[in-house]
Amino acid sequence: DWNPGNVIAEQIERIREQVGSARVISALSGGVDSAVSTALVQRAVGDQLTAVFVDHGLLRKGEREQVQNDYVAATGVNLVTVDAADTFLDALEGVSDPEQKRKIIGREFIRAFEQAELDVIASAAASGEKVKFLVQGTLYPDVVESGGGTGTANIKSHHNVGGLPEDLQFELVEPLRTLFKDEVRAIGRELGLPEAIVGRQPFPGPGLGIRIVGEVTRDRLALLREADAIAREELSAAGLDGEIWQCPVVLLADVRSVGVQGDGRTYGHPIVLRPVSSEDAMTADWTRLPYDVLARISNRITNEVAEVNRVVLDVTSKPPGTIEWE
Ligand code: XMP
Repeated sequence: DWNPGNVIAEQIERIREQVGSARVISALSGGVDSAVSTALVQRAVGDQLTAVFVDHGLLRKGEREQVQNDYVAATGVNLVTVDAADTFLDALEGVSDPEQKRKIIGREFIRAFEQAELDVIASAAASGEKVKFLVQGTLYPDVVESGGGTGTANIKSHHNVGGLPEDLQFELVEPLRTLFKDEVRAIGRELGLPEAIVGRQPFPGPGLGIRIVGEVTRDRLALLREADAIAREELSAAGLDGEIWQCPVVLLADVRSVGVQGDGRTYGHPIVLRPVSSEDAMTADWTRLPYDVLARISNRITNEVAEVNRVVLDVTSKPPGTIEWE
């Protein structure tokens, strides 16, 4: 019988065997896979591990705190948080094209993470230690998709980090390689990780940056963050988390429409709700949410989020629509 406790015990033993007394680095994204793989390695080698979390300023409300407070409290992991919001938002200034945004966010992410790695490597070196291992939350479906190879990760000198060796080689630690997503969640729960992380629905790496149709600015992010938090709160309160695959909340930043509120005319932005049901995100159908839940979300967003005067529902399946708007 499959049992999370056995898998954990087995993996801890394997990780210890692989890593010995070397130092290990891990990247936390706020998602399930990196959270569980990091927690397993922490259980196995404790303070030999340093986890790195990049705050790119495109996170949803509460996500940084979930990692910094709840996750650290649950695991005891050594965490380095990189405050990179200004760097990312400056790099995104004036950019509206979705693919351009993805490119910039991807590039800045690698830069921020590698800088953090270098700091960890330097501080390990100061005590005569070497960082040899990098944790990856690779799941079984990822292994199959990529043809099954294991191996090493390279930090290449492609973005000019001054004064470094050409290539830093890490051996990978991949404790989830034989597991499926639901098994990973079960292990995360067994390890006592916060439900907000273990049960999290898919959220794209570029974060809220690709949920603002138009240029990404600090003001727009603040607005979308509030609207998204309200939608998530109401969907959870209605017990609907299990029914939807995910529900992107999108700000149409370049669109304005006329409204009326209190005793005045408004000219604000629309928010789009995009609840979808799916098995694997390759295809999806729009979720038929109860009208009263939709009404509550709409009322709250238009009342609580200044500058939003309209909430619309996306009723497109995939195909032809994608799940995200960008
Ligand atoms: P689409 O919009 O292509 O999304 O139907 C399918 C799934 O992928 C997620 N997604 C992303 N995830 N980086 C990611 O890590 C991205 O750039 C990205 N774009 C879309 C999306 O949330 C959905 O689950």
